[in-house]
Amino acid sequence: MKIFVDTGSIKDIQTIADLGILDGVTTNPSLLAKEPGDFKANLKKICEIVQGPVSGEVTATDFAGMMREGHDIAKIDSHMVVKVPLTRDGIKACKALSGEGIKVNVTLCFSAGQALLAAKAGATFISPFVGRLDDISTNGMELIREIVTIYKNYGFKTEVLVASCRHPMHIVEAAKMGADICTCPPAVIEALYNHPLTNIGLEKFLKDWEKAQAVKA
Ligand code: G3P
Repeated sequence: MKIFVDTGSIKDIQTIADLGILDGVTTNPSLLAKEPGDFKANLKKICEIVQGPVSGEVTATDFAGMMREGHDIAKIDSHMVVKVPLTRDGIKACKALSGEGIKVNVTLCFSAGQALLAAKAGATFISPFVGRLDDISTNGMELIREIVTIYKNYGFKTEVLVASCRHPMHIVEAAKMGADICTCPPAVIEALYNHPLTNIGLEKFLKDWEKAQAVKA
């Protein structure tokens, strides 16, 4: 399963990339708005660091505007993926941009029917938001199970990019269901390798080692 980081922070992306397990980056207008500098220059830097898919989202809500912004985003770097919202115009733009060979990530997906439409429109990635569904007392991971089943039934090539991941169990559950990718904030990726028994175990190994060295000295 691929792991993407969901942030616009170049510093955080570099830190996670240094781990050697980072496959891509997703951004959205809220995340990019927090960062200083020109957003296109920032996306270019991110592509250079990651050398994998980097999603940049359109802010236009009409088809023509999405196409215009989509072309601009795709021009930034060959790793850029154009993110469009799962609206009527977004699906139309997905079909058109995909037809031109541009990779599209369809975002703000909250139902299996929406995911089916995105796949039919040739999306490279579908982004169902699990955390935001959990927030309204709806099981976000059930949506992932449905989408994975539907895509498998019909051999759709669209990759399931689990978004709005809030904790490591979202990632583990997504992996068990066979989702292709999880995109998570840096803190959630950091939380994956933290385990109290690992820390306790390491502390004991090092103490035992030091004790043995002292006896030998
Ligand atoms: O980038 C899309 C998504 O991952 C946002 O997550 O935590 O704002 O619901 P969140």
